[in-house]
Amino acid sequence: MNRDQIEPTWLPLHDLAVDLARQAGQIQRSRYETALDIRTKSAPIDLVTEVDRACEALIIEGIRQQRPHDAILAEEGGGDDRPEAEWRWVIDPLDGTTNFAHGFPRFCVSIGLEHHQQTAIGVIYDPLLDELFQTVRGAGAWLGTRQLRVSEEQEIGRALVATGFAYDVHRSASDNLEEFGRVLKATRGLRRDGSAALDLCYVASGRLDAYWEMKLNAWDVAAGNLMVAEAGGRVSATDGGPAPRDGSQVVASNGALHEGILDLVRAPQ
Ligand code: IPD
Ligand code: CA
Ligand code: CA
Repeated sequence: MNRDQIEPTWLPLHDLAVDLARQAGQIQRSRYETALDIRTKSAPIDLVTEVDRACEALIIEGIRQQRPHDAILAEEGGGDDRPEAEWRWVIDPLDGTTNFAHGFPRFCVSIGLEHHQQTAIGVIYDPLLDELFQTVRGAGAWLGTRQLRVSEEQEIGRALVATGFAYDVHRSASDNLEEFGRVLKATRGLRRDGSAALDLCYVASGRLDAYWEMKLNAWDVAAGNLMVAEAGGRVSATDGGPAPRDGSQVVASNGALHEGILDLVRAPQ
């Protein structure tokens, strides 16, 4: 990442986010494919492990030591959230818990930092591939020393797309299955990899051409949405308006394919 392009007062915050993401990733790497204490949350398929909690505790502790006045929204509830705070950390300590619990190697740490309710910094770390995705508003999105650019794909029929399903999929009529079917039949391939934050990084890096999901939370998208935007992509709600900060709707693409994906994801009139 080019540090000269980063607002100087934001540099220590960026460095703190990187350091904590790497430390949490180290915990995940060391506990991968070991015996885990697995419990359920909102549904029998909504899992949490002691590794999610340990990563969250480490990140919150690290923030509180250096930034005691910042607000923290963290998935497992250890934060002290104030949505209107000047600085708010938005943390998914382990995105891809189902994968992690099954030993499926696709999960990460996601840390977003909002300044006056707009994401300023995003760090997403995949500990198994040792891939550190970073973005700072106005300074681009980076994977290590490589600046990220979304793909140049123009044809929906050649697009590789990803999505995900909410934990209420067994009981909700809005289960994303019709959208899934429409996109599957219109594109080259459709993936359900199980980590929203990595899906967004993959759109930013051109590995995917587009991604959508409904009913996510702020911690799933805080860092990843900025990653896509800073890589030259587009992120929106299903009506094409701004993507909500709470993660309830996200459609992300390389820009060129955005209207086409929106048409597929929206219910036919
Ligand atoms: C989940 C993952 C998954 C997405 C779910 C998320 P978690 O996050 O990002 O890909 O489809 O909607 O809740 O629970 O593993 O942090
Ligand atoms: Ca998540
Ligand atoms: Ca999580």
